[in-house]
Amino acid sequence: MVVEGQEGPQSLVCQDVEQPQPGPGQVLVRMYAHALNYRDLVILAGGYPHNDTRPVRPVSDGAGEVVAVGAGVDGVQPGDRVMAHLSPHWLAGELTTAAYARLLGGGMDGTLAEYCVFEAHGVVSIPAHLRYEEAATLPCAALTAWEALIRRGQLAPGQTVLLLGTGGVSLFGLQFAKMAGAGVIITSKSNEKLQKARALGADGCVNYAETPDWDVEVRTLTHGRGVDHVLETGGGGTLEKSIRACAFNGQISLVGVLTGLAATASPLGAILSALRLQGIYVASRAAFEAMNRAIEHRQLRPVIDRVFPFEEAAAAYEYFASAQHFGKVVISHQ
Ligand SMILES: NC(=O)c1ccc[n+]([C@@H]2O[C@H](COP(=O)([O-])OP(=O)(O)OC[C@H]3O[C@@H](n4cnc5c(N)ncnc54)[C@H](OP(=O)(O)O)[C@@H]3O)[C@@H](O)[C@H]2O)c1
Repeated sequence: MVVEGQEGPQSLVCQDVEQPQPGPGQVLVRMYAHALNYRDLVILAGGYPHNDTRPVRPVSDGAGEVVAVGAGVDGVQPGDRVMAHLSPHWLAGELTTAAYARLLGGGMDGTLAEYCVFEAHGVVSIPAHLRYEEAATLPCAALTAWEALIRRGQLAPGQTVLLLGTGGVSLFGLQFAKMAGAGVIITSKSNEKLQKARALGADGCVNYAETPDWDVEVRTLTHGRGVDHVLETGGGGTLEKSIRACAFNGQISLVGVLTGLAATASPLGAILSALRLQGIYVASRAAFEAMNRAIEHRQLRPVIDRVFPFEEAAAAYEYFASAQHFGKVVISHQ
């Protein structure tokens, strides 16, 4: 059984296919759970790089159990609990052109199926304390937040992070920032979601719908200093205010485009505050494994908003697109 679509969540259909078989160097995984990311909406809308063929099998994030391995596979065996790595050919070091062109759901099939074949080096062990539904949330959102704040951001105790909205990337950002001993300011359109973020450890909360000049409020909350790091998931519509919210020598990790691509931000504020702006495009397998060790060590549990059955993948998409969620939306086979 696989789920594929042409354009938009309504086009997603479940259909029977022959069970795939692993070739040399590959593994067959019985999938148990998937998680949705904003990119999955973009992929179905046809706006993602390297995804111009139809129908498309979407969804990068998936977790399951290895049920067979092909010839020459070493280090992965039947019974292993694994997650798919979104960028299966990016093992370590810098991103390469070849790896960039082959991402799950964009450039190659996604994971929305009962059985998937992956390269053996494209799967990573699940932290022992996590259920499949929880593990499925890690490959995209968690790894991106980790790469931005911890690996490249080198977040230090006592620094302050600004998170925009309460989607998947932001809430992992919150959990990693608290793990690193940093302070967190988070924005949301919903006071109810802000209350939940506070319960997770957020130190400052700003409703960006009620306070359109949220950058001013962020500076007030930091006693005029500004934040050390922004996890910039908003894109064109938020970048200018993110720059204004930063302390001298702060950094902005450019991660998302929730408000669109068009930006009017002047570079002057970034220059005068000596900011560092860096693009983040998920991360390597080595970073994924480092993050998982930290997650296991701290027994961190992902924030899941809602779980939908596999047969209701289209409904999961619709719910996710409505942006009512707090954290992750999961599709489960169990
Ligand atoms: N570069 C990468 O490697 C990478 C990896 C993962 C994700 N991304 C990108 O990062 C972004 C976030 O991804 P995600 O999966 O976490 O998305 P998500 O879960 O769909 O996040 C949606 C939430 O973002 C918040 N939001 C929407 N507009 C906002 C605005 N104007 N200001 C502040 N918050 C706003 C809303 O939270 P509230 O309801 O609380 O307001 C909304 O519920 C997307 O653009 C995605 O493509 C990039």
